[in-house]
Amino acid sequence: MSTKINLNGQILEDASISVFDHGFLFGDSIYEVICTHNGQPCFVKEHLHRLRQSAFAISLSIPLSDEQFWQEIQRTVRESANPESYIRIVVTRGVGEIDIDPGSCTRPNVLIYVTPLKAYPQEDYEKGIHIALVSIKRNFKEALNPGIKTGNYLNNVLAKLEANQLGAKDALMLNSMGYLTECTTSNIFFIREGRIMTPSLECGILDGITRQVILRLARENGFLLEEGQWPPEEIQLAEEAFITGTLKQIMPVTLLDGRLIKDGKPGPVTIKLMSLYHDLLEKEYGQAVKGSVS
Ligand SMILES: Cc1ncc(COP(=O)(O)O)c(C=O)c1O
Repeated sequence: MSTKINLNGQILEDASISVFDHGFLFGDSIYEVICTHNGQPCFVKEHLHRLRQSAFAISLSIPLSDEQFWQEIQRTVRESANPESYIRIVVTRGVGEIDIDPGSCTRPNVLIYVTPLKAYPQEDYEKGIHIALVSIKRNFKEALNPGIKTGNYLNNVLAKLEANQLGAKDALMLNSMGYLTECTTSNIFFIREGRIMTPSLECGILDGITRQVILRLARENGFLLEEGQWPPEEIQLAEEAFITGTLKQIMPVTLLDGRLIKDGKPGPVTIKLMSLYHDLLEKEYGQAVKGSVS
């Protein structure tokens, strides 16, 4: 079990990059987080697609094809020999002058970090977690679109600090219009009168890969679904709530701003979706090792 860092194709125990890299100087980088299930990286095609969308949005050209990424991810995962791995891809603007203009950066740095996957406490899934509405607003879509997964996460860091002060595990942010958006590293869902509701992409959120899968599973299993723009009062009246993300998968939320959601226990819709998601992972990433980007 170990941590390996693939820096531009070289696999190292510990890597370093220049202090003149614009990723470090200006947060001028993009990233993706993937995790394995039964040792297999999950939803790689979807993550690489989003990485390319992020690259396009910040006019960064990625020097690797999807197939090359897949080979490098597999090679690094194999070398780290973890039972389950956390995989972080980072592409920075590269080294340049200390100047906001990226024109002096000639070569992006491509990093693939692979570390042992740390599971969230089982208690979080069984009892649900506490999240809090914070005063920090999600980035204004027309300033730095939250749909782009950049290395500039200060907005979310500030929200997380506020959640910590409030004794909550995560922060729920509103946008500048006062509508619900997402948590610091997760999308939010809630259930009202049996309908699954989640902020739409127009609210200014990351189009989470787990969110996409949950929406698909919910549709396929006949749940009523609504994506929209809602003020916080809507979630305050929810019967259930949960957050989603690559690492946490589906995590029930049972406390909002210190108040119980319904009876303060994970609800039936959340539990059903947790089980459907787990079944899907087993089906897609059972024992057989696949040979190309999947
Ligand atoms: C702001 C934000 N929202 C949502 C998510 C969940 O996205 P995914 O399901 O692709 O992991 C993340 C993941 O890092 C995130 O940073």
